[in-house]
Amino acid sequence: MGDAASLSVFVLVDHGLLPKHRLLDIGCGVLRGGIPLIEYLDAGHYVGVEARTEVLKEARKELAKSGLEGKRPLLVNEADPTRVRLDTPIDVAWPSWCSFTCPTRSSMDT
Ligand SMILES: C[S@@+](CC[C@H](N)C(=O)[O-])C[C@H]1O[C@@H](n2cnc3c(N)ncnc32)[C@H](O)[C@@H]1O
Repeated sequence: MGDAASLSVFVLVDHGLLPKHRLLDIGCGVLRGGIPLIEYLDAGHYVGVEARTEVLKEARKELAKSGLEGKRPLLVNEADPTRVRLDTPIDVAWPSWCSFTCPTRSSMDT
């Protein structure tokens, strides 16, 4: 779990995220961090929100490539996460739109 794509799942699991939790990934982009989260969480427990339509299209392609469509992640095209209406409550809201611009632990150590 040392690469940038696994940063989200590494941090969230470190803070107690369990497969049974329902997660809202705000600014999911092309699912670079989302794919490891989808893999980790129970089916149907990942919701990705992305403001840009074209980026979300790429995310769907990445999801297909990953072979994880069976995990039934919900990908929503929306720029305001407060407008996302879900049938089941969310346990964790994760603002991943900033996670890859923050310094990693190893870059802070140097
Ligand atoms: C650093 S990039 C994507 C990182 C992403 N988590 C990944 O794993 O690939 C940030 C993304 O957040 C999206 N974004 C920015 N503000 C947003 C908002 N208010 N709601 C939803 N998406 C947003 C951008 O369109 C962009 O695709």
